[in-house]
Amino acid sequence: MTERITLRKPDDWHLHVRDGAMLRAALPFTARNFGRAIIMPNLLPPVASTRDAIAYRDRIHAALPEGSRFQPLMTCYLTDATDPDDLEAGFRDGVFTAVKLYPANATTNSAAGVTDYRAIRPVMARMEKLGIPLLMHGEEVDPEIDVFDREAVWIERRLIPWTRDFPGLKFVLEHISSKIAVDYIRSAAPQVGATITPYHLTHNRTDWLGWGNRPYLYCMPVIKTEADRRALVEAATSGDPWFFLGTDSAPHPVAKKLSTTGAAGVFNAPVAIEQYTKVFEAAGALDKLEGFTSLNGPRHYGLAPNAETLTLERRAWTAPEEVAVEGPDERALIYRGGEQIEWRVVHD
Ligand code: DOR
Ligand code: ZN
Repeated sequence: MTERITLRKPDDWHLHVRDGAMLRAALPFTARNFGRAIIMPNLLPPVASTRDAIAYRDRIHAALPEGSRFQPLMTCYLTDATDPDDLEAGFRDGVFTAVKLYPANATTNSAAGVTDYRAIRPVMARMEKLGIPLLMHGEEVDPEIDVFDREAVWIERRLIPWTRDFPGLKFVLEHISSKIAVDYIRSAAPQVGATITPYHLTHNRTDWLGWGNRPYLYCMPVIKTEADRRALVEAATSGDPWFFLGTDSAPHPVAKKLSTTGAAGVFNAPVAIEQYTKVFEAAGALDKLEGFTSLNGPRHYGLAPNAETLTLERRAWTAPEEVAVEGPDERALIYRGGEQIEWRVVHD
């Protein structure tokens, strides 16, 4: 039995670190295990210009623990009014790594997202020319469409036509949640890659809803069937380079998670790399772990893998239940909090 694994330091290709007190509470969990992370821009108001992104990046740097070499990779929140010239300037200056598309009202803080898919075509053409990847929350939010089918309809209605219209544009379909998405990625790679979260690899919708509603498994896209989960595990552990790590770690204050309209998002950064390791071990695929966590993502983005390494060993520990957030009674609950975690990161 493998007792110790050393990987090139992983990167998180999809991460929410929020702002202010929540940023200070959440960021250290990512900074200690990951070299870089793609930072989601869905703040209120969103990070939608080069100026916003520079200021946000500064706040992230200020929230980093002393001596951390963690690198935030910034994204631009795409709106109907995104200015291609500002985007180009931000990309050329090394501020933006990618653009993030939220369909309006698809998820947390997406009200300013895209409503007019014709209006964004000039931006997409510019991105194609410059080599800026388009990251998508790939769900069609038409009220006619069942919530479990949103991802499949997005692929059909948006993504397939776009890969034809913009053959030089690189895409990432974020947090894929279905077998349909896995099959689609295989047909569209390497133009389209995909991130997969630890919880979509671990849970099915019966875990979420079958034994009482577990609000801490509520996320967008929603967790789907066991057949979908198995297809995701098969994809992640296959060694195919178009599938890579993106935690979608997304902390919310407890009151927002537990209100009558509970917020979508799972705060998993404190146990993410350990959970992926568990999934790969259960699939008999620990030899494929490093590709998924540390090599495939940089390759899709045209970046070098990290030079540093990270070591995990089989040594049980108990995950903290929550993290305190500055402010009156504020806290965020942690995915698998209070549970025994099988793998532990070795920090010297
Ligand atoms: O569950 C989610 N939470 N999905 C998203 O796409 C956004 C995220 C958040 O920001 O909380
Ligand atoms: Zn997300």
